[in-house]
Amino acid sequence: MSKIEFLDLGKQPITNNFLDTKNPKEEFMYKLKVTFDEQAKMVSLGEFVPPEKMFNENYAHRASMSKTMQKAYKELSNSIKKKFNPNSILEIGSNDGVFLKNFSENIVIGVEPCKNLADITNSMKIKTFPEFWTLKLSDKIIKEYGNFDFIYSANTISHIHNLEETFLAIEKTLGNKGIFVLEDPSLIEVIKNGSYDQFYDEHAYVFSLTSIIKILEKTSLEVFDIEKLSTHGGSNRIFIKKKRNNLKISNKVFKFLNEEKVYGIENIDVYLKFGEKVQKSKHELISIFKNIKKNNKKIIGYGATYKSATVLNYCGLKSNFIDYFIDTTITKQGKFTPGTHIPIIKPDETLKDDVDYAFLGAWNFKEEILEKEKKFIERGGKFITHVPFPNIL
Ligand code: TMP
Repeated sequence: MSKIEFLDLGKQPITNNFLDTKNPKEEFMYKLKVTFDEQAKMVSLGEFVPPEKMFNENYAHRASMSKTMQKAYKELSNSIKKKFNPNSILEIGSNDGVFLKNFSENIVIGVEPCKNLADITNSMKIKTFPEFWTLKLSDKIIKEYGNFDFIYSANTISHIHNLEETFLAIEKTLGNKGIFVLEDPSLIEVIKNGSYDQFYDEHAYVFSLTSIIKILEKTSLEVFDIEKLSTHGGSNRIFIKKKRNNLKISNKVFKFLNEEKVYGIENIDVYLKFGEKVQKSKHELISIFKNIKKNNKKIIGYGATYKSATVLNYCGLKSNFIDYFIDTTITKQGKFTPGTHIPIIKPDETLKDDVDYAFLGAWNFKEEILEKEKKFIERGGKFITHVPFPNIL
């Protein structure tokens, strides 16, 4: 085996499992370890969590909850219409339709295994299959709808355990002139940002461009363009086509690949150093929280993200440090954070007067949040973040 473990984030819960009670009778936990496969050049979790435990009718994340994401998907849709003008679009992991709603419902199909979300888009007249993306499903879709001009998948392919089957199914479903766009957190950004919270149950993989190119070697697909995005704390939008389609491969692809190589993305030393940095980050964050509490100040959490579950559980930050979380997602409100059992409430217009510090669970929306919470900042309120290193803003 060429997989080397470089990070141990301890026992972790299902990040989507927001609890109804502070004292649950039982809670599923698993060991969150992160490994690097020297052959595949792939970073993945040491242990995968069964998909049905994560992606089910209780799935809480709504992609359209943030203004930043709404705007980003609208801009992307406009650019796709202009650049590729597709007549048929398939989205793998269509969530609540934040991307597909920008197109005519006659040309789009969604795939979404979380039934509560598939129900939302089906009621918007977007035909959605409430199923996992598999070869079997792709066969069914091709039989009914034929091949697709455009396949899109954001923050989903990195969640699917069997990558070989995933890409084979995409290869079959894509028309010969078709384009597949994949968007997921960027490994190099995770390492640079020290954002170890990108590792959680759902993120079975964190991709580099190098690792995607390696997987595609087994198919008739190839990368022809790449864009760096600021979403989710730094993501890559990777454009893929069939090799027989002679669209030019952008120089950006070679430049980016070289950047990864120079950074050492193929080298275990980079990951071992990252592992050490994360341990240091843990101790520093705990000491920031302890110092604040020594002075009897009140800390709350801002955005009960899936990511934040990794930080809270790894650092042991529970209700003794954080009084409550605020979150705009309705399905998280009135519940308790997984593993750490901190209450989650609906936010007011602005943070309450008795709040001294807010831990940025949704640090990937820092700009949007700082803009929204100007009053809190003006009255001396402070934010705590752990990226790129534990820090008070
Ligand atoms: P995400 O990082 O997985 O997209 O989740 C962001 C979460 O943060 C989501 O539940 C909504 C929440 N949130 C707030 O509560 N307030 C905000 O201002 C923003 C931007 C997000």
